[in-house]
Amino acid sequence: MKETSLQCLLILISLLSCTTHQARLTVSPSSSQFFEGDFVSLSCEEDDSSAGWTLRRNTSKQQRTQCGDGWGEGAGSSCNITVFLLDSGVYWCESREGPISNMVNLTVTGGSVILQSPVLPVMEGDGVTLLCKTKTTPSNLPAAFYKDGSLIRKQPTGHMTIQHVSRSDEGLYKCDISGHGESPSSWITVTGDTLTCLCFCRFQHSQCDDNLMTVFALF
Ligand SMILES: *[C@@H]1O[C@H](CO)[C@@H](O)[C@H](O)[C@H]1NC(C)=O
Ligand SMILES: *[C@@H]1O[C@H](CO)[C@@H](O)[C@H](O)[C@H]1NC(C)=O
Ligand SMILES: *[C@@H]1O[C@H](CO)[C@@H](O)[C@H](O)[C@H]1NC(C)=O
Repeated sequence: MKETSLQCLLILISLLSCTTHQARLTVSPSSSQFFEGDFVSLSCEEDDSSAGWTLRRNTSKQQRTQCGDGWGEGAGSSCNITVFLLDSGVYWCESREGPISNMVNLTVTGGSVILQSPVLPVMEGDGVTLLCKTKTTPSNLPAAFYKDGSLIRKQPTGHMTIQHVSRSDEGLYKCDISGHGESPSSWITVTGDTLTCLCFCRFQHSQCDDNLMTVFALF
């Protein structure tokens, strides 16, 4: 009984969050890891452009700097950047009124291998594909994939697919390609699905998932 009312409360909170102004930060190409010199497009997909979303980031050198202020080239809520090592950091969209979007960790490596993994949290039950690639070869080399430091799979084509993601797949992933080296590590987050809420919220707005995820994490 108690649990049910807690669930109701959380559903209510998540529905309310559907109606507030939202933005979602998207990264193109969709990856959390990049090679030095890669071109990356960041964009705040918003449901209300009057909220004036801007892109900001924290790096090891600077906090809360806006796109165009020493990094990136921006117009409104999108930003293009050619990335180098010091561009590694946390990126997010922020509106004048304060709300912030999902946050995204981007890692730029000086090495020659990256792991392409989902930038956004993955829904429980969805499929996910990880790609291990080198800077110089067109890809599809055999790769080994690691989760939380342990070898989980060796794949002849550099792709690893998890068909139905579950909570236990959450963790820190990296890969290596023999003769080329190891990628940095990236965190893959898995969020639960509570169908009714999610369907309702998706129906209302396509951009509210991240608030919901916080709520679902509690279920
Ligand atoms: C960015 O840095 C500021 C100042 O150090 C800190 O308050 C804030 O929590 C950081 N934000 C993120 C998303 O890490
Ligand atoms: C970012 O790059 C894309 C593709 O090259 C271009 O269409 C867009 O206008 C650029 N945006 C900014 C803000 O420079
Ligand atoms: C970003 O990376 C830091 C350090 O690895 C981690 O603590 C944090 O949870 C990550 N944030 C996101 C949004 O993935």
